[in-house]
Amino acid sequence: MQILDYLNDRLGFTNRHRRVLDKPVPEWINYFYCFGGITFTLFVILLLTGLLLSMHYSPTEAEAYKSIQKLHREVPLGALLRGAHHWAGNLMVVTILLHMLRVFVTGSYKNPRELHWVAGSFLFLVTLSFGFTGYLLPWDQKAYWATVIGTNMLGSAPLIGQFLADLLRGGPDVTGRTLLRFYSIHVLWLPLGAGLFLWMHFHMIKRTGISGKL
Ligand code: HEM
Repeated sequence: MQILDYLNDRLGFTNRHRRVLDKPVPEWINYFYCFGGITFTLFVILLLTGLLLSMHYSPTEAEAYKSIQKLHREVPLGALLRGAHHWAGNLMVVTILLHMLRVFVTGSYKNPRELHWVAGSFLFLVTLSFGFTGYLLPWDQKAYWATVIGTNMLGSAPLIGQFLADLLRGGPDVTGRTLLRFYSIHVLWLPLGAGLFLWMHFHMIKRTGISGKL
């Protein structure tokens, strides 16, 4: 297409594309090596559906619950959008665990790939934190009490547990301030963290290539 040729001439995106994506796939690769890619695909789905959800959600004590009800009743395909976000989030936890299991079983965390595992561990933490902070956002009874229990568990950790729990909640109790804090973490802090660690993870995989056969 002419327009693509024009843009490519000015921006040179096919060359950059090639350097990143044009890599031979080893012949012995099998389906167990797909879980990292599936996890990334789910992450992209979560990002896209999350962007759309954020256009209808209000992170305030008075409005949060109502905005979710409105999403179901009034927004075209709103329930589908919420369902896609919910299920992609749940599935991502399953596929990330399968990815870790594959990497562990094939011993791919060993020298020279130790830091792949370290960056991956941060990604695992980020993924679980997405789940924990997202769970409060519907602001219903289940969400509220799950967060009371979760933050109390954190509070019972020795030395800094209480400090961390208060910091996370914005006080001793789960209130509207907690909701705003969780929303900020869910839509800003964690996506930024995920972006950083994903970049590190992929950069290192590109350098070392995929590990060999067992
Ligand atoms: C958002 C989460 C993650 C994404 C999107 C992701 C993505 C990927 C992709 C696409 C690969 C290439 C090979 C493959 O797919 O199996 C890979 C490799 C690798 N990942 Fe992850 N990963 C994630 C989390 C993790 C976690 C939690 C760990 C371990 C704690 C980990 C450790 C590794 C290691 C060691 C490799 C190198 C494997 C090899 O060379 O055979 N990753 N990752």
